[in-house]
Amino acid sequence: MRVPAGESVAAAVLVHALDHTRTTPVSHAPRAPFCMMGVCFECVMEIDGIANRQACLVPVAEGMQIRRQHGTGRIDE
Ligand code: FES
Repeated sequence: MRVPAGESVAAAVLVHALDHTRTTPVSHAPRAPFCMMGVCFECVMEIDGIANRQACLVPVAEGMQIRRQHGTGRIDE
């Protein structure tokens, strides 16, 4: 997707109407960015192969690989 430079990953997710950034570890409920300032951790995603990154605090970059996070984000899940 194309997004303006400097926009956060979470903002890009919301602007492009992607419905959630992660699912919860127990009930697998979908969750989406809420506070947009690094407090709630609802926006965690796998970004460039690293799980549990707060998408609201990470600016988008060319070629960035972003995945929805399922559960705790551990590789063996
Ligand atoms: S939206 Fe709350 S920590 Fe990112």
